Amino acid sequence: MAKTPLPMKPTGWFQVAWSAEIRAGDVHRMTYFSTEMIAWRSASGQVTVMDAYCEHLGAHLGHGGTVDGEILRCPFHGWEWDNQGRNVCIPYEKRPNKGRRIRTYPVTEHSESVFIWFDENGRAPYFEVADVLSGFDDGRSAADY
Ligand code: FES
Repeated sequence: MAKTPLPMKPTGWFQVAWSAEIRAGDVHRMTYFSTEMIAWRSASGQVTVMDAYCEHLGAHLGHGGTVDGEILRCPFHGWEWDNQGRNVCIPYEKRPNKGRRIRTYPVTEHSESVFIWFDENGRAPYFEVADVLSGFDDGRSAADY
């Protein structure tokens, strides 16, 4: 009997962290889909998930990258990146480098969790995260266990 090949190309929303693990100002290191990523939370509470390496000269932003308001600053030369992965400031230049961009992932938070959308073919999200926990709303949180 012929085997049906499994589609080894994941598509969908994946839980990558607990929300409480990433407080405002935190830069959280993680690896999913054979890719090193970081998740960081801005001062306003927005979580961004992006590839871990700076698009300038490749510093790992999870080792010394700092959150300042709504941007992430690279520890090597201070380039600043926004939540779309765009370079918004180079401290020793008059203008940012608009051609450099770090890959970011669509993010949503609910059920005390951070989810990212991942698609091998780069497609945008075409469905919502299923809120499977809302039916168990008994007032408790993950911190209670
Ligand atoms: S390697 Fe990140 S600013 Fe230079």
